Amino acid sequence: MTEPDTLLDLQIRQIRLEATGIHSFELCAPDHERLPAFTAGAHIDLHLPGGLVRQYSLCNDPVETHRYVIGVLRDVNGRGGSRQVHETLKVGDLVKVSRPRNQFELQPAQTSALLIAGGIGITPLKSMAHSLLQAGTPFELHYCARSSEVAAFTEELVDLNRRAPGSARWHFDQGVVGAGLDLATLLAVQPAGTHLYFCGPPGFMKACAQAAEHWQPGTVHSEHFQAPTRAEPLAPTTGASVRLSASAREFVLPDGGNLLELLDQHGIHVPTSCMSGLCGTCKTGYADGEVEHNDFILDDDEKQRCLTLCVSRVTSRSITLHL
Ligand code: FES
Repeated sequence: MTEPDTLLDLQIRQIRLEATGIHSFELCAPDHERLPAFTAGAHIDLHLPGGLVRQYSLCNDPVETHRYVIGVLRDVNGRGGSRQVHETLKVGDLVKVSRPRNQFELQPAQTSALLIAGGIGITPLKSMAHSLLQAGTPFELHYCARSSEVAAFTEELVDLNRRAPGSARWHFDQGVVGAGLDLATLLAVQPAGTHLYFCGPPGFMKACAQAAEHWQPGTVHSEHFQAPTRAEPLAPTTGASVRLSASAREFVLPDGGNLLELLDQHGIHVPTSCMSGLCGTCKTGYADGEVEHNDFILDDDEKQRCLTLCVSRVTSRSITLHL
């Protein structure tokens, strides 16, 4: 694990209607203390009364140390987390949140950035836009939505455009397939050194990934806020010997076993959140083994040294975990 797992007790200072079905929640320390710093693209786990835990991207400017702001779309077809957030949380309530984690960092080596948001996927990209503006890095933020009524943060994005003319652009399709942003044309020609970042619902993610297939490796970055449907269920694990480098303990992972369960059985309780390879809470270093990763967050470089315990499969006879 790469982050402290202590939770923060924060107070909801403000709830704003940002668009039809979208509220923003401003979370601050009750004693007005500074909050742990975050970088653009980071998210927090919001622990809801009753035990639900949901991940939400921070959408405010990372230079702000007094607040975290999240944007939540009320999803009537979702698993219930966003409905609970909308229907039960009130200004003044105390909520528990994790420290920010970032699996969707801006890259330092880019000369310009292209940000493409689908719906509520605007949240991490808005934070990135604030950081890019601060850094003086040229960028375009393309916001795809059904209509202006469901497009959030309009005032802030208009202000962004005032400070960096042409940086924020809206594309409304009114629900008509093919009537919105022409991704292929946009991604066909971009200045050398540009990095692409996108976030949105599954169909949008697929369309962006396909349109960016010809981009250079390492220049395309994305974050799913919902695990894509897997073409096939994850295959069961085969047995392996699991060593722990910090404690020099060793366990046998049985055929069909699960790394998290194995550790739990031996009293090693690793924090988890999404359980689907999306959030990075269970990210752990490893060595001396081979892994089928199955996550949606690690890049090729990270996969050489890290795995996510919730969905990774060990494919070698043994592995060492940095625990
Ligand atoms: S619990 Fe989220 S990646 Fe494993």
